[in-house]
Amino acid sequence: MKIKKGKSICFFSAKGGVGKTTNLINLAGILEQLEKRVLLIDMDLTSGSIANFLNKSYDRSLTNLVDDLYYNRFTEIEDYVTKYDDYIDLLCAPKDPREGAQIANSFISDIIHKAEYNYDVVLIDMNHSLSDVNLTILDQVSEIFFIITNDPLDLKNMKNMMILFKELEIKNFKIILNNSRDPFKDYFSIYDIKHILKHNIDYTLSSEMFLKDMEKYIMKGIILSLDRKFSSLMSKDYQNFLVIATALLESDKNEQ
Ligand SMILES: Nc1ncnc2c1ncn2[C@@H]1O[C@H](COP(=O)(O)OP(=O)(O)OP(=O)(O)O)[C@@H](O)[C@H]1O
Ligand SMILES: [Mg+2]
Repeated sequence: MKIKKGKSICFFSAKGGVGKTTNLINLAGILEQLEKRVLLIDMDLTSGSIANFLNKSYDRSLTNLVDDLYYNRFTEIEDYVTKYDDYIDLLCAPKDPREGAQIANSFISDIIHKAEYNYDVVLIDMNHSLSDVNLTILDQVSEIFFIITNDPLDLKNMKNMMILFKELEIKNFKIILNNSRDPFKDYFSIYDIKHILKHNIDYTLSSEMFLKDMEKYIMKGIILSLDRKFSSLMSKDYQNFLVIATALLESDKNEQ
């Protein structure tokens, strides 16, 4: 009997603060609207913020999961998750950053694969460093989404990252140009950006998605893409997210 395996996705970037966590959470909200069960894993191990973003307190985290894997006490991934709602679960980063720094790279792929067998989509948040943990995540996920902004420093870093990806023969990635993080930065044209990266831009999030009152959402733990305002006032970006979600559900890297 074939056991159904879900997709695993990570958002990565060449620079910090470009909107990875914000939009990974937005993607979770869109997948919920498509009635998919989603696990958000916070693998930004030393400065994870998903629980704070969603205003959730939690008892169990990746620390407990890794401990139990180590001592052969693990039974199922659900024992370690915190519920956000009926569709979205969180696997939180260690509360103490010192514990995060101690999580051994050797557990990462096991955790991702265990999660894939329990959820339709596993969304992994991470920081932008090229640590061993992050390289393992990049190697193990079904698909990588690179978030870039129209910022000279970001694009210069990204250019180097593209060279590295080529060297590592990583091909399963899409590029998302995020114009909502800082709508006043538009130094380069789309043509320039494609030329700098020597790669197509697969998706664009528009400046219309910039929220002056983002803090309000964070304080209340509301997912923007689940807010009715999103599909009506930001219909272009709602459609963009739907296209991203549908394409990733249809991609067949994991169907073999
Ligand atoms: N559409 C938006 N409108 C307003 N503020 C935004 C928007 N997207 C992101 N931000 C803000 O930009 C900051 C960085 O966003 P976020 O934390 O998602 O980036 P990140 O790439 O995950 O950062 P890090 O590399 O530190 O993990 C946050 O304060 C967030 O609230
Ligand atoms: Mg983040």
